[in-house]
Amino acid sequence: MTDFSYKPTLTGELVVLRPLGEQDFPMMKAAMDDPEVAKLTGSHGTISDEKALEWLRTRKDQPDRLDLAIVDKASGEAVGEVVLNEYDPDNRSCNFRILIGPAGRNRGLGTEATRLIVGYGIERLGLHRISLGVYAFNPRAQRAYEKAGFVVEGRLRDELYWDGEWVDSIVMSVLETEWPVSSPM
Ligand SMILES: CC(C)(COP(=O)(O)OP(=O)(O)OC[C@H]1O[C@@H](n2cnc3c(N)ncnc32)[C@H](O)[C@@H]1OP(=O)(O)O)[C@@H](O)C(=O)NCCC(=O)NCCS
Repeated sequence: MTDFSYKPTLTGELVVLRPLGEQDFPMMKAAMDDPEVAKLTGSHGTISDEKALEWLRTRKDQPDRLDLAIVDKASGEAVGEVVLNEYDPDNRSCNFRILIGPAGRNRGLGTEATRLIVGYGIERLGLHRISLGVYAFNPRAQRAYEKAGFVVEGRLRDELYWDGEWVDSIVMSVLETEWPVSSPM
């Protein structure tokens, strides 16, 4: 079985996932500066360029998580990131998250990137469960996750306070016993 210290390159029809690094700073900065990304990821604060660079520089050295850049095969450009984190070795579980900047959205890239990293997590890293949280005001993300095989398992009430309103977070997961899921509906 592979472990998290090995950082793979995963190739699909629309995207290539490859290790995230310092070269992704301009793309990640542009994505994080996008107000839609800030809202949909519930990011209240900002981080300095120095901290962001240090974060990117150290992703390849992490022994317990996987951070991959999403490269749009049509343009050859990185458009976002996809992550398995919060690894729990005793229970063989991880959290999943994804972020795509404006240039990459609504073309199926997010769905394919999700399927690729979830498949790697289950088939190569031996994960039993991968879960995520998605805010109730983000039906596009919920749809992409459903197409990739995640199912809704619950709701965390009022988890986010955004623009004067409380927003629920929907918990979704996929289990190794359900994988691989059939092709998108
Ligand atoms: C969420 C995200 C990863 C999805 O990736 P994507 O490449 O844009 O999505 P896809 O094109 O693969 O799939 C989107 C699906 O949602 C559907 N959709 C789009 N807007 C929708 C809406 N308002 N309501 C319901 N469905 C919607 C699309 O039609 C498509 O489904 P279909 O293929 O059945 O037609 C990406 O948009 C993103 O990163 N957004 C900004 C940050 C974010 O939301 N991160 C996730 C936080 S949990």
